[in-house]
Amino acid sequence: MDGHAALGEAPVVIVQRYRFVSMTPREVHFPDGFLWGTSTSAYQIEGGGDNTDWWRYERATGTHAVEQCGDACDSWNRYEEDLDLTARLGLNSFRLSVEWARIEPERGVISQEALGHYRRVLEACRARWIIPVVTLHHFTLPLWVADLGGFENPDIASWMGDYALVVGRALGGLIGVACTVNEPNIVALMGYLMGFFPPQVESWERFVEVNKTMRACHVAMRDALRSTPGSYPIGLPLSMQEYEALPGGEDLVNMIRHEMEDEYLRALDDDDYVGVQCYTKLLIGPEGLVVPTDQELTEMGYLFWPQSVEYTIRRAASLTDRPIIMTENGIGTDDDGQRIRYLSGALAGLANVLRDGIDVRGYFQWSLLDNFEWTFGYGPKFGIVSVHRTTFERAPKPSAQWYADAVKGFPSIPS
Ligand code: BGC
Repeated sequence: MDGHAALGEAPVVIVQRYRFVSMTPREVHFPDGFLWGTSTSAYQIEGGGDNTDWWRYERATGTHAVEQCGDACDSWNRYEEDLDLTARLGLNSFRLSVEWARIEPERGVISQEALGHYRRVLEACRARWIIPVVTLHHFTLPLWVADLGGFENPDIASWMGDYALVVGRALGGLIGVACTVNEPNIVALMGYLMGFFPPQVESWERFVEVNKTMRACHVAMRDALRSTPGSYPIGLPLSMQEYEALPGGEDLVNMIRHEMEDEYLRALDDDDYVGVQCYTKLLIGPEGLVVPTDQELTEMGYLFWPQSVEYTIRRAASLTDRPIIMTENGIGTDDDGQRIRYLSGALAGLANVLRDGIDVRGYFQWSLLDNFEWTFGYGPKFGIVSVHRTTFERAPKPSAQWYADAVKGFPSIPS
């Protein structure tokens, strides 16, 4: 990682016994300081995201939202509990997001209260030797931004740059790794082509334009962060998938990949790392997505496909020379045994790419908690820890211990 980077500047390659349940022990080379964590986002766990476009969308008629986010996991108040859990599991990192709508509730009005809160959260990470990976934008927009046209307003890149300056100045000294815009390609796809996310647009042209704007927003935020105190790697977490073209689906796969992945990966050359996020393999026929009926599916209707970890990392590595962090990977399931099988396969793929010398610096399981899964509400269970819907009591599932045990085979995890 050049310039701004602080992650494993001189990678010390260590050989370590890598143990998995139901896997053959193997030797893996990996960099010192490899980040092991879980990923979360503000809106999905904090509760009280009332100043956002999503909150409004959930209350409007004719949307795809099945329920309202409400108090989520109450992590706004319970973040110390979440971090204690993280520390107990022996994870050395935690990915969270800060909420633009709280920090800048109205245009140009900065909430010192919100910044103070996030400062306390990041200090609480540091106090537990947990490296905070901080996302500045994870799907939600402040209402004032949405009302001014959201990602279709040509000024949004400069607004996001200004917001990043505020975050960098207030929190830069505590940030461990920064993510600018989470899955900009999914925001564009779901919000501007599929019409499933706000603002519910369905247009190929507008989708392509928003993707371009997203890249400008990322650059504005990255450059703003670089001009503020602190020294930490800055990158963009991109949604990637394994695609399989069914007969006649080849052109469509190429078109989707071009817009969703390649145009982004080509634009990230000046970043300190590339964030890769994957969940499944998508089968594409001439008419679009085909959901297989004869294979194992997850709660989201996705193909059970942990192999996508290895696939997407290899693909990203073939298109960029930046170090890679797997900033999200996971499975929505009520069957924790299925989650452990998924994790086992995912980490096996990770071990393979590390063994082949691909520069991967971290892996983040989505998610720590069962949380608010956007239009699907609280149905899908992505957490390694369950959350009682009225008491908010947290209860680690067997997969939490499984993950903790797998991670223990690695060095540099502060005990
Ligand atoms: C998003 C998360 C989401 C997860 C599971 C990712 O695309 O960043 O917010 O909860 O996938 O669907």
